[in-house]
Amino acid sequence: MTITYDDVKHVIPQVEWATFAEDIEAIERLKVEHNAVILAHNYMTPEVFLGVADIRGDSLALAREAQRVDADTIVLAGVHFMAETAKVLNPAKRVLLPDLRSGCSLAESITASDVAALREAHPGVPVVTYVNTSAEVKAASDITCTSGNAVQVIESLGTDKVIMIPDQYLARNIAARTGVEVITHPGACEVHERFTPLDIVQIRHDNPGVTVLAHPECPPEVVAEADYAGSTADMQAYVDRERPSRVALITECSMSDNVAADHPDIDFVRPCNLCPHMKRNTLRAIRTALETGTHEITVDPALAAGARRAIERMLAVPMDPK
Ligand code: 13P
Ligand code: SF4
Repeated sequence: MTITYDDVKHVIPQVEWATFAEDIEAIERLKVEHNAVILAHNYMTPEVFLGVADIRGDSLALAREAQRVDADTIVLAGVHFMAETAKVLNPAKRVLLPDLRSGCSLAESITASDVAALREAHPGVPVVTYVNTSAEVKAASDITCTSGNAVQVIESLGTDKVIMIPDQYLARNIAARTGVEVITHPGACEVHERFTPLDIVQIRHDNPGVTVLAHPECPPEVVAEADYAGSTADMQAYVDRERPSRVALITECSMSDNVAADHPDIDFVRPCNLCPHMKRNTLRAIRTALETGTHEITVDPALAAGARRAIERMLAVPMDPK
């Protein structure tokens, strides 16, 4: 069902909505025509997230849902590694990424030969790889993880040491919660590494009573200043559950808009950094992707088999009830 302005009036100014309505209508028509669904990450802008997405969530939810899609075409409103993951998990489907330049600083920080070098330096230590990596790196790993399940994945291995790549900050934040020794790689998210502990001190000073939630891709010194750290879905769940009167989400900019849409009564302080890769998924780019069938994501079947093994092993790890 096509949404109306009433559904999004808390987060989209009326003047902007007028420019979105035509693309939203066209996208809804094209989805039916091509038997397509749109999977959207929590960092999509509200006109995409609330306007045209069929399935929304964090990296873990999108991977799980991609596996179950029945439609012929998946449009991944997110970044390249997410589209690749969808293709690996549901290879019979056509997977489209609206803009091929939607990369990720973490995925670009590491190659399969870096993984081989780490294995050689630390024989026998399992390699846990964040989903924000290429299929080739996943195929060279033992298991993948997301920020939503990293603790459970590491604990499932039952070892006292793991290699956790490529996000040095996520690795250190998760190590602090597990007691497992973690060997890291010097990768970082270009969005979250820019936050500083001083940002949080300033937010608290300027916004008395604020609850601060940080993404674990932030440096550990930032997470230490926050009240809670979790994946984008964990942050959404925290706000839904605890309903703080004032909250700051230390993460990508669109996250606050999308959570705020469900909580018009909560005051969202909006210190944020933009992910330029996520922001390439404009309504116009999604419409063009459906009209022209671009850009179709393919994965070399030999690599896909290795990547699927590592991702499916992750998906089989039991999660604690939230
Ligand atoms: P999650 O949505 O899994 O928390 O990931 C955040 C992110 O930066 C994705 O690129
Ligand atoms: Fe990559 Fe960071 Fe952008 Fe997520 S927010 S896609 S981790 S650069």
